[in-house]
Amino acid sequence: MRRSCDQATGPGTIRTAIITLSDKGAKGEREDESGRVIRDMVTGIGADVRHYEVLPDERERIVDALKRHADSGAIDLILTTGGTGVAPRDVTPEATREVIDRELPGMSEAMRAESLKKTPHAMLSRAIAGMRKQTLIVNLPGSPRAVRENLAVILPALVHAIEKIKGDPSDCGAPL
Ligand code: MTE
Repeated sequence: MRRSCDQATGPGTIRTAIITLSDKGAKGEREDESGRVIRDMVTGIGADVRHYEVLPDERERIVDALKRHADSGAIDLILTTGGTGVAPRDVTPEATREVIDRELPGMSEAMRAESLKKTPHAMLSRAIAGMRKQTLIVNLPGSPRAVRENLAVILPALVHAIEKIKGDPSDCGAPL
């Protein structure tokens, strides 16, 4: 029997990579609380954090890391934090756009829409989301608070998104 994807139970483990973009963090001058917040939150939906790193805000380094993980076939989800804003060294969205095959604007739209209810500064995040091969890549802003608030918006759709990206053929939408 075909099941509706509204009855999706999840793909099992979500193999996850967390990449924190922070010049200070990469130099060891700032503790990475945001990475820890991500780890705690995704563990709650069954994610297995297989990789974690802190990189400086350097476009080529970010591009290389995103490609390496997405092309490995061993990571379903890459969550980045930081570098989404308007400061001169904020390049995470540009690096992400360079590597994705398809953009997933709904995720970033939803995060910004919900975040705007909390702070007008939400409009300063240029975060994007998209797929490279079978890996979902989502940018989150940098502060622990922003991570918590943004990730909470997309968490309920993450499992289903990853099932679909990996080719789950089930029909979407429960009958009315
Ligand atoms: N979104 C939420 N929900 N909560 C926040 O506190 N901070 C904003 C914004 N998005 C924030 C938020 C701020 S202050 C900035 S500058 C942008 O995200 C970009 O952050 P980044 O440059 O650290 O990625």
